Amino acid sequence: MDVPPITVFGGSGFLGRRLVATLLAAGEPVRLVARHPDAVHFNDETRLQRVSADIADETAVAQAVAGSRAVINAVSLYVERAGQTFDAVHVRGAARVARAVRHAAVPRLLHLSGIGADPASPSAYVRARAQGEQAVRGEFQPATLIRPAALFGADDALLASLAMVTRLPVVPLFGRGDTRLQPVWVEDVARGLAILACRKAAPAPLYELGGGAVYRYRDLQRRVLTHLRRRRPLIPVPFPLWHGLAAGLGLLPSPPLTRDQVYLLQYDNIAAPDMPSFDELGILPRSVGEALPECLPIR
Ligand SMILES: NC(=O)c1ccc[n+]([C@@H]2O[C@H](COP(=O)([O-])OP(=O)(O)OC[C@H]3O[C@@H](n4cnc5c(N)ncnc54)[C@H](OP(=O)(O)O)[C@@H]3O)[C@@H](O)[C@H]2O)c1
Repeated sequence: MDVPPITVFGGSGFLGRRLVATLLAAGEPVRLVARHPDAVHFNDETRLQRVSADIADETAVAQAVAGSRAVINAVSLYVERAGQTFDAVHVRGAARVARAVRHAAVPRLLHLSGIGADPASPSAYVRARAQGEQAVRGEFQPATLIRPAALFGADDALLASLAMVTRLPVVPLFGRGDTRLQPVWVEDVARGLAILACRKAAPAPLYELGGGAVYRYRDLQRRVLTHLRRRRPLIPVPFPLWHGLAAGLGLLPSPPLTRDQVYLLQYDNIAAPDMPSFDELGILPRSVGEALPECLPIR
């Protein structure tokens, strides 16, 4: 009898496509679900099924989930635009996937959220992540919540933006650059998710996945400067100024910086030491320092 697939919502995204590649390389059948599921390609697609579905569509979600042996929701939205709101994607969409999992009696759901998810956060994005976690648990109590720290990897947003500002004559810091971050290698998170989706033992209810080292924002910026062999003064810029700038940029159709992103750099974003994490999965996570040459090649 054919082995039922592992279904990955958002399987074409930054994390999702690494997860799909990891599962396919391990010989697992995978169902990739996205609105544009043909956007990515893999080395061996023999066991890959592509399904076009919007998580706003109850019927399409139910069809995408049916017959799966595990479901992973790695759908994301970082900037709200017409028809695409944090509530629609991170709360109602996430709940819809969880409901479909329950109705289809799929035994395992891994739901991607983020470290720092907090219903009282000043950030609409962070609040929606917390409300999404609650909504998912409300629909499917055994769901496993996965909270990664900021992801890094080749073609990421984090290292790319740290590199981009080094082209300026002075490099502006968010505040004094004191915020502590624990960026996690996207491939480590993909590997951890694949283990949790495939193993027999039930996962813990919640994992926080941080990378191999914690950095203050300014130290991360310094590392990128050193790696790129550039010398620039680092200039502290108070957070209220960043919020004002982001509010203005927010009027553009594709803002390069949002207030939610400023909030993410205003508060420490590191894994709680007492939460299940990579050690439970037998993974020694990489640090930015180790991976910089690979992730940010000098051109
Ligand atoms: N990136 C980070 O630093 C970071 C940090 C912490 C947590 N996370 C979490 O990790 C997960 C993956 O993030 P990511 O950065 O890999 O996201 P991403 O690159 O933005 O990818 C998002 C994926 O979701 C799909 N998608 C978006 N809207 C959809 C909709 N309405 N219906 C169905 N599919 C939809 C996209 O494909 P289509 O556009 O074709 O639909 C794409 O496959 C998210 O839960 C995110 O919040 C990410």
